[in-house]
Amino acid sequence: MNRPRLAVVVPALFFLVPMALRAAPSALSGAGLAAHVCSACHGPHGNSLISSFPKLAGQGQAYLLMQLHEFKEGKRKNAIMQAMAAGLTTAEMKAVAAYFSAQKMSRGLAQKRYVALGRRIYEGGLPKQHVPACMACHGVSGRGNEPAAYPRLAGQWSAYVYRQLVAFAHNRRPSPEGIMNYIAKRLTPAQMKAVASYVEGLR
Ligand code: HEC
Ligand code: HEC
Repeated sequence: MNRPRLAVVVPALFFLVPMALRAAPSALSGAGLAAHVCSACHGPHGNSLISSFPKLAGQGQAYLLMQLHEFKEGKRKNAIMQAMAAGLTTAEMKAVAAYFSAQKMSRGLAQKRYVALGRRIYEGGLPKQHVPACMACHGVSGRGNEPAAYPRLAGQWSAYVYRQLVAFAHNRRPSPEGIMNYIAKRLTPAQMKAVASYVEGLR
């Protein structure tokens, strides 16, 4: 529905926002950056309104910071976010990561038809396919593990979660020790959809 509009807005932002960043005379605070730059896509206080953009609110600080560095260094590839991160200093990245991690992630919804399979994978893994339980790292209720920089999945857009699983499976996104690449390669698309929907419903 809002795709045609997005197709126009996103490329425009892609050019305008980095320009705005470079033009800024002094470093913005975390909240200032979030409000003036990131919110265009990631929504007010880090709760994006559409699944094209991940929610950042309530995400772990160490994880957010790590992702910003990976975009900046080109290890995680995304044209928009690589341009965004290129315009940020290390201090700004720290400040904006701290800001978003202190916000509250909005609730998501699981689709009923995916809950049974999604929960089974999340809580028990798929031993025959050598898939470990997601819960072991992402937490019993999906809130992640801040000291280990394991991201929160609870409440995140299922369409975004699914796209990341596909990206890991095709090695388009790296992960520490290749852990998520190993896991995602062992999931079928139907299993990815189910677990993605399930985690969106966690809170
Ligand atoms: C023009 C749109 C746009 C703007 C503005 C934008 N982002 Fe993003 N951001 C994206 C998209 C799209 C993704 C998903 C990238 C992918 O699929 O790998 C993303 C992903 C991220 C992620 C990874 C989240 C995760 O769960 O792994 C972080 C962190 C992030 N953005 C931080 C920021 C910060 C901080 C700002 C402001 C300085 C910002 N973004 C501004 C579009 C945007
Ligand atoms: C051994 C620990 C471990 C297990 C088990 C694990 N993960 Fe992960 N997961 C990670 C780490 C570490 C990352 C961060 C990767 C990075 O730095 O980009 C991650 C990232 C993710 C992301 C990206 C989140 C975002 O915001 O972009 C998704 C989605 C994900 N995992 C889903 C799953 C699912 C589904 C399972 C179960 C089938 C699972 N994970 C099992 C460690 C784990």
